[in-house]
Amino acid sequence: MNSDHSASYPTKRHRRLRRTPSLRRMVRETHLSPADFIYPLFVQHGQNVRRPIASMPGQFRLSLDQLSAEAKEIMSLSIPAVIVFGIPAEKDAVGLENFADDGIVQRAIRLLKEAEPDLAVITDVCLCEYTDHGHCGLLNPAGEILNDETLDILAKVAISHARAGADIVAPSGMMDGMVQAIRLGLDAHGFQQAPIMSYAVKYASAFYGPFREAADGAPKSGDRRSHQMDTANVQEALREADADVSQGADFLMVKPALAYLDVIARVKDRYPHVPLAAYNVSGEYAMLKAAAANGWLNEQEVVLETLLSIKRAGADLILTYHAKEAARWLT
Ligand code: PBG
Repeated sequence: MNSDHSASYPTKRHRRLRRTPSLRRMVRETHLSPADFIYPLFVQHGQNVRRPIASMPGQFRLSLDQLSAEAKEIMSLSIPAVIVFGIPAEKDAVGLENFADDGIVQRAIRLLKEAEPDLAVITDVCLCEYTDHGHCGLLNPAGEILNDETLDILAKVAISHARAGADIVAPSGMMDGMVQAIRLGLDAHGFQQAPIMSYAVKYASAFYGPFREAADGAPKSGDRRSHQMDTANVQEALREADADVSQGADFLMVKPALAYLDVIARVKDRYPHVPLAAYNVSGEYAMLKAAAANGWLNEQEVVLETLLSIKRAGADLILTYHAKEAARWLT
């Protein structure tokens, strides 16, 4: 019998590098910072409105008079960007307020840029919050979305946002050709400098539930499966990313984030040189908030772990409702 057991002990010891906080910091591969975050804002008409969104504790619908203070708070937390969603005064078949000079989002952009000129203002470009039927495109009499007719409207919306001072436009409707249509429209109107962040890979997910309450954007009938991706697919995600990169997208986005970390990783592998955003969506936020409110999870720890996992998967930027709280915890 061999009395020298040490010969069979491991020589490679991973735990050596985990022994102290400083050693762990030295070998840490992923870092989270407020600069990674994009904070979503919901804006509506009215005065002095700060209306809580029931399914998203801590998030509010804001009227325009609230935006200056909001912009200052966000900048003071070193968060570089917001994405703006608007709730219009009235909805119609086309969504006229969507591209009106004095539309809710156009006015919000001006106020945010006035309050904090260096805050990057991103705008969501879609029809669903503005149309009375709640769909992401114009409909034919049979109720089907008209792809190419919708592209003309999306370009108009993007141009009106750029004219109001938006830094980046983010088409979210999953229409084929939307990036190209918007790029051509922006360029033709002198906005060659306005980047496009495309919601290139957006799934038909049940995790958008709370957002639809927040933005009042649920389809009145049917669903979004004719344009948003089937949750089972990842090869198709790469085809979507290919299409948007070839049309000139400056950023790609994968949405949602958590149930799609594999998709984030695959898209980043394919386009390591294209900035990639991931949308940590409303339902993902609601889950952690609910568990934390019940005392079932430690909120700070799970939120930071979650956000870190999205970066580790390959995202460069995270759209998240946790942005302000996480930024506070990180500083
Ligand atoms: C569509 C849009 C949606 C979200 C962002 N943009 C809703 C949808 O596609 O149904 C969802 C975001 C979230 O759930 O946090 N304009």
